[in-house]
Order: sequence, then structure tokens, then C-alpha cells
Amino acid sequence: MIRAALLLAAAGVASALYSDATYTNANPTTIAADPYVRWDVQTGAYWAYSTEGAEDGWLFGIYTSPDMATWSKVPGGAIKNETDSLVWAQDWFWAPECYYNEETGWYFLFYAGRYKEPKLVAEYFKYPDFEEASKIGVAVSRHPDGPFVNIEANPIDYYPFDPNYRDVNLIMDPPYLVPPATEEAGATAPNGTYIPSIDANVFFDDSGSIWLFFSRNAYRNWVWDDVFGEYVEESNIYAVQLDEAWWHDPDATTMPAVHQNFRDVYQGMPEDWVSSVNDSYPGPTRKDGWVAIVSSKLQPQVWENAHVHDYAASNGTLKNRRWSEGSTTIKRYDSSGNPVYFLTYSANNYESPDYGVGYAYASSVDGPYFKSDSNPILSQNPSREVYSTGHGSIIGAMGSDTELFYPHHARPSVNATRYLYNARLFVEPDSLYMGFGAEAGDLRWPHGVAPLTVAAAVASGNGSAGTTWTVSVESASGAAFNLSHPSNRLLAWVEGNNATAVEVEVVGGNVTVGGKPGGEVKVVYQRARANETEPWRNVSQAESIWSDWDVVATTLTT
Ligand SMILES: *[C@@H]1O[C@H](CO)[C@@H](O)[C@H](O)[C@H]1NC(C)=O
Ligand SMILES: *[C@@H]1O[C@H](CO)[C@@H](O)[C@H](O)[C@H]1NC(C)=O
Ligand SMILES: *[C@@H]1O[C@H](CO)[C@@H](O)[C@H](O)[C@H]1NC(C)=O
Ligand SMILES: *[C@@H]1O[C@H](CO)[C@@H](O)[C@H](O)[C@H]1NC(C)=O
Ligand SMILES: *[C@@H]1O[C@H](CO)[C@@H](O)[C@H](O)[C@H]1NC(C)=O
Ligand SMILES: *[C@@H]1O[C@H](CO)[C@@H](O)[C@H](O)[C@H]1NC(C)=O
Ligand SMILES: *[C@@H]1O[C@H](CO)[C@@H](O)[C@H](O)[C@H]1NC(C)=O
Ligand SMILES: *[C@@H]1O[C@H](CO)[C@@H](O)[C@H](O)[C@H]1NC(C)=O
Ligand SMILES: *[C@@H]1O[C@H](CO)[C@@H](O)[C@H](O)[C@H]1NC(C)=O
Ligand SMILES: *[C@@H]1O[C@H](CO)[C@@H](O)[C@H](O)[C@H]1NC(C)=O
Ligand SMILES: *[C@@H]1O[C@H](CO)[C@@H](O)[C@H](O)[C@H]1NC(C)=O
Repeated sequence: MIRAALLLAAAGVASALYSDATYTNANPTTIAADPYVRWDVQTGAYWAYSTEGAEDGWLFGIYTSPDMATWSKVPGGAIKNETDSLVWAQDWFWAPECYYNEETGWYFLFYAGRYKEPKLVAEYFKYPDFEEASKIGVAVSRHPDGPFVNIEANPIDYYPFDPNYRDVNLIMDPPYLVPPATEEAGATAPNGTYIPSIDANVFFDDSGSIWLFFSRNAYRNWVWDDVFGEYVEESNIYAVQLDEAWWHDPDATTMPAVHQNFRDVYQGMPEDWVSSVNDSYPGPTRKDGWVAIVSSKLQPQVWENAHVHDYAASNGTLKNRRWSEGSTTIKRYDSSGNPVYFLTYSANNYESPDYGVGYAYASSVDGPYFKSDSNPILSQNPSREVYSTGHGSIIGAMGSDTELFYPHHARPSVNATRYLYNARLFVEPDSLYMGFGAEAGDLRWPHGVAPLTVAAAVASGNGSAGTTWTVSVESASGAAFNLSHPSNRLLAWVEGNNATAVEVEVVGGNVTVGGKPGGEVKVVYQRARANETEPWRNVSQAESIWSDWDVVATTLTT
């Protein structure tokens, strides 16, 4: 009879809580931009949603992981473009985020997409040639791995409008690189514009209110800068309250809509506004509100100025720009019981050495938010080969509030694509502190991954030469490790009277013996290390830090 037995003492396995396993951000393999990670209690696994990573015909990559460090890819992606007839956006599918309602069992995917077709663009932004007409859409699924299906064939019912914006694009020429030279010249532009929105982050306040944080797309947001004496095109972070009907709908057929407090608050403004360019292009008629959360006007910070002279620096090929994007908001209480809202955001272009993450805090969900003097708190580190750190999301180990991580995108070299990295995030409400743990080196696992279990089954053969076992390693909550990931490895060898004569081949989770073992086949689970002297380490776990540490291993016997 063929069986797999754990080397670990049974009692030790059942209650082992501690693991010495580490992860490293070196040699990343999971392609991801703007990653959003959540812990899923249904599957006992972490799930990542990304702008990049979908296969052809699909939108948005999805990955799953037991440890928030080594990921398996979900085939396809989040939304099947070919079959979801409600896909309304035409390109620029960006920054998906997923939220689970335990009450109804529905998963909601929020994402940004752009309209390109002039008639559709005009419906939402008045002008058929409005530059970069991005909106926020919502798709739902019963499962974290999708497929997600759009609730409706249109974005959320929200028409954010800025009645005081000098729409200088109307007095500029395509490709809109050269804004008016003076504020006086800009003031000749008509007031009022609809606001293109990206980077949705839904914040569920414990008071019960639901807020949509989003970034006003950098396009068509030229802001006069008194310090530099020029217009700078900016993205800013705004928030708006949503209604709650969609969240509680047991059928998930209700689209989110802007809360009535923000609905059409700019009606009649500005005075001379006409809602359409002409009869062929009827524009939107509602003008909804928003709250400015993070912008250079509200609070300038020097580190965000890396691109304000790009037009001259690029010989007239780039715009003067400033970015605040990709926000995530969490709420904590200080020791007096007062709420503190913390918001992370990314500034500058992700390809720039100055790209990074800053944070702001507030005592109320809608602000005012104060940027930290410590900004940026995360940025590139060439000596450790970490570049383009930004646009992450905040997630506690196993969804907890205490052990936070900030999965984010970064690159191992200046010209590489963006991959999924992870770093610890420390938050201290009393001192209004937010800061990151190390990005490089051997980093501790989140709690709750251990105790690991190992199982093995014969895939083919009868125990003689050529027999293959498939070995699986699972987290405490039953999530499988991707043993083909370059950070995970099985070490296998034969122990017995004829051991040296038998070759053992390991490919991912498959262990094949080249001859009749004549003894036990031992298998140990190892993790890659950043340390080149000892690049692999046996993973051990223990019931308590005072008890024996057992190597995570199994024995394959025939
Ligand atoms: C396991 O990880 C490797 C490296 O990232 C990846 O190529 C492979 O697709 C992963 N396996 C699965 C099942 O996703
Ligand atoms: C989605 O499908 C539509 C209709 O087939 C096609 O026009 C569009 O290019 C597709 N978009 C993506 C991003 O695959
Ligand atoms: C246009 O907006 C500016 C602020 O950008 C404001 O000062 C001005 O009063 C507005 N003009 C009109 C006619 O609404
Ligand atoms: C309506 O406006 C669009 C965009 O400016 C223009 O291309 C089109 O010719 C106009 N149509 C009419 C009938 O004036
Ligand atoms: C900048 O552009 C001008 C005009 O196109 C060109 O003559 C000049 O060579 C460019 N300079 C650089 C440094 O690329
Ligand atoms: C990265 O790309 C830029 C422009 O494409 C190029 O000039 C540079 O040499 C590249 N750097 C490396 C390290 O490959
Ligand atoms: C086991 O498999 C080998 C190779 O396929 C075969 O030669 C051998 O007879 C089998 N032994 C038994 C006991 O079935
Ligand atoms: C392991 O073996 C199974 C069964 O033969 C096979 O389907 C799978 O692709 C193998 N995995 C790897 C990583 O080679
Ligand atoms: C030991 O290995 C050799 C070479 O593979 C083989 O010929 C021999 O039968 C094995 N002996 C036992 C006891 O399994
Ligand atoms: C790398 O590992 C070796 C062997 O375990 C150890 O002696 C050395 O201190 C480690 N180096 C670092 C930088 O951790
Ligand atoms: C892992 O464990 C095995 C079995 O105990 C041992 O032979 C090997 O040296 C260990 N490897 C490391 C890197 O500690």
C-alpha cells in the first residue's frame, strides 16, 4: 500500500502556530499593476486584483495566495469581455478593487474604464472630444475568482462636476500640451467641467456610511500654480458618499449611485452653462458634488513636484504634471477613542525615480486630510533593486486590523514591467504615524499561514522506478502553495539501504523516483531566501516558540 505520512508529530501539527518562513520581493514573477489584495474568509486565501495580468479576451488579472507573497494565477481574468455583453467601457480598464458582502454572499469589483466613442463621451462629459473620458464601473460574482459580470451596461450613476474649473482645454489645441501662459489668459476660458474618474476605493465606514474615494483623472485638470507661475495638469483625490441600496441588495442587481446629499448639488452652476455642444450631442444634465481630499492646492508638498517642468525637460513632448492617485483609506481609533482616518496615495509618474507613496490623515471621513511631513514613506531603493513602488492597498493578515500589509506594484529594474511586491505597514493613531517595514531581504510571513500541512498522492506508478507522487503544501486555512513558484521548493531524497543509487526528480509538486527506492522518500518544504549564501531554507513550525521546531516535511513510502 502506498501512503504519505507526516514526519511531524501529530499533536505538533494540529496546533502549530509559529513558522520561521520568510518571503522576499526579489525575483518577482507576478505581473501586476495597481494591485488590490483582500483576505477571503470563504476560501481561506488572499486574492489580488490587478490592472495587468488578464489573458486575451479578459479584463484584469486575478491571483490567489496562501501567504500574500507567492501567487497562483486564475486562468482568464476577472471579466470575460467576449461574453459580458454589459461591458460599457472601451479601453483603459484600470485599478480593480474587490469587496465582499458577507450578508449577501456577493463579491463586487469596482474598476475604471474609458469611453472613446464620441457619442458616449458626450453623454457623460458634454464634449464628444473630451480628453480621456474615464468612469467607474461595477461587476459582481459569487466567487472571488470570478467571472465578474457587470451589473449594468453603464458606469455608476454619478456625474461629478466642477463648476469653478476654468476649462482651459477649450482655449488650447490638441494634443493639449501647452496651457495658457498666464492665469489671466486662463481666466478667459469658460467655467465648468465634468470630472473623469479613476482609481476607485470604496470605504465602508463603521458608522454605516459608504464612501467612494477616487482620483480625478489628470487629464483636463489644469491648475494654476502660483509658486511656479504656470498651469500644471493634476490628478487629485476626491470622495463622495454613495447610497447603500446596492450593497444590501440580495440579488446584486442594483448599481451603486451617488448619495442624495451629493446629487445635483451644482444645478444651475455656472450661470452660463449649456448642457450640450449641439443637438447631435446631448450632454449630461445632472451636476453632482464631491469633496476634495488630497491635492496640491489644499496642501502642497515639494516631493510631488517632480514633473512640473516636464514640458521643457522633454523638449515639448510631455505635459507639466502632478499626480495624486491610487488611494486607500482605513480607519483607526486613538487611545482616547477618537477616529483617525489614514489615506495612502501615490504621487509622480510611476517610471520616475521620485514616484512613491505618501499618506494623509483626518478626524472625519470627508476630511480635512493633512499630509504627513514624512512623505514620501515609500519610494525606490536602487541599492536594493526596488523601483516604482506605489499604488497598493492595505490589508491585514487574515483580514485582521492589527498586522497590516501594503501589497503594491514595484519593479526590480528601471525598465522592467510592474510586479506584485509586499511590505508591512505600521499605523499608530496616537502619533498619526504610518510607515513601512523593509522591502528587501528575508521578510516575515503574515500570521495565520502556519500550521502548514503536507499531503501526497501517487500520480502514476506503483512504487517502483518511475513512480511520481504529487505533493501539496497547504496553509492552516487550506490554501495551496504554488510549488512551481520560484520561491517555493520541495527538497526530496531517498533514505534507506540502497538510497544512493536512486535519483529523485522534483518538478513543482511532482516527485519522481528514478529507481525502486528501497527505502523512504523524504520531502521537505523550502522557501527561497534573499541571502545568496544560503538561498534555500527548510521551513519549520512550532506550537509555541518554546517548543520544538519541526521541519515541514513528509515521507513517501511504498
Ligand atoms: C506558479 O507560479 C509561477 C511563477 O510565478 C507561475 O508561472 C505559475 O503560473 C504559477 N502557477 C499557477 C497554477 O498559477
Ligand atoms: C471587448 O470586446 C469588444 C467587442 O467584441 C471589442 O470591440 C473590444 O476591443 C474588446 N476589448 C478588450 C479590451 O478586449
Ligand atoms: C469661475 O470660476 C472661478 C474659480 O475658478 C471663480 O472665481 C469665478 O467666479 C467663476 N466665474 C463664474 C462666472 O462663475
Ligand atoms: C456638433 O458638435 C460636434 C463637436 O464639436 C461637431 O463635430 C459637429 O459638427 C456638430 N454638429 C452640428 C450639427 O453642428
Ligand atoms: C528639441 O526639439 C527641436 C525641435 O523639434 C529639435 O530641433 C531639437 O533637436 C530637440 N532637442 C533635443 C535635445 O531633443
Ligand atoms: C531603459 O529604457 C530607456 C529608454 O527606453 C533606455 O534609454 C535605457 O538605456 C534603459 N535602461 C536599461 C538599464 O536598460
Ligand atoms: C510496477 O510497475 C512496473 C513498471 O511499470 C512493472 O514492471 C511492475 O511489474 C509493477 N509491479 C507490480 C507489483 O505491479
Ligand atoms: C505533475 O504531475 C501531474 C500529473 O502527471 C501533471 O498534470 C502536472 O502538470 C505536473 N506538474 C508539474 C509542475 O509538472
Ligand atoms: C539497489 O540499486 C541497484 C541499482 O539501481 C539495483 O540493481 C538493486 O536491485 C537495488 N537493490 C535493492 C535492494 O533495492
Ligand atoms: C546569510 O546566510 C549565512 C548562512 O546562514 C549567514 O551566515 C549570513 O549571516 C547570512 N547573511 C545575511 C546578510 O543575513
Ligand atoms: C533541510 O533539511 C534536510 C533534512 O533534515 C537537511 O538534510 C538539509 O540540510 C536541510 N537544509 C537546510 C538548508 O537547512
